Amino acid sequence: MEMRRIVVLTGAGVSAESGIKTFRDADGLWENYKIEDVATPEAWKRNPSLVLDFYNQRRKKVLEVNPNAAHYSLVELEKNFHVNIITQNIDNLHERAGSKNVLHLHGEITKSRSTNNHKLIYPIEGWQLNIDECCELGSQLRPHIVWFGEQVPEMENSIPLVQMADIVIVIGTSLAVYPAAGLIMYAKKDAEKFLIDPASVPYDRIFNLRIIRDTACKAVPQLVNDLLK
Ligand code: OAD
Repeated sequence: MEMRRIVVLTGAGVSAESGIKTFRDADGLWENYKIEDVATPEAWKRNPSLVLDFYNQRRKKVLEVNPNAAHYSLVELEKNFHVNIITQNIDNLHERAGSKNVLHLHGEITKSRSTNNHKLIYPIEGWQLNIDECCELGSQLRPHIVWFGEQVPEMENSIPLVQMADIVIVIGTSLAVYPAAGLIMYAKKDAEKFLIDPASVPYDRIFNLRIIRDTACKAVPQLVNDLLK
């Protein structure tokens, strides 16, 4: 028999208990930085050092922390299900926990990309990416991140996965940023849907949805246990 398919959509909340700040909670990143100063193509043109520094700090943090119980329990699902993780997060905690199929909608903090050819992507050694670090064509490298106002090329690969899923689990996202926030709309009407978040996320008119208002480290291992039974 073919394995049932699970798609897990994650946001900053799944990594919060690892010690990575979310964006929109109290004291979140967007309370301490302005999006238009650090996370747009215009910011990059205006002040690339500031942008590099912002992402260097994020990268440093990611390298210091570890996956948590939520990341690890999602790996367990692979025993009985075909699992795809679609994350808005730029950290690598799902991969470090051991999840096999992880798709990053908003890019990856541990990689750089050529400003001349978007297909040239490189791993970053250590935590810093600096001015004058160049790709093989001699152009400045930028963080491999999707900035506000840029295309989200991985949507194309994500939509069919959500459409095929028998179960969709949404964890720790305020669903404030499109197109990522619209992905669940592609799920089959009768697919089983779960939303895990300690805050109340505005979500109406979704059929067959169970809302679990709790933190990822508490709720995800429990849900995974239930699904594996
Ligand atoms: P947000 O900061 O907008 O939302 C974080 C969500 O996590 C909120 O709904 C919180 O209630 C929830 N949360 C907090 N602690 C949690 C915990 N312990 N367990 C579970 N959930 C918890 O972050 P995202 O929705 O991921 O994009 O933000 C989406 C995008 O906006 C990011 O990918 C980033 C940002 O700007 C770019 O930079 C392009």
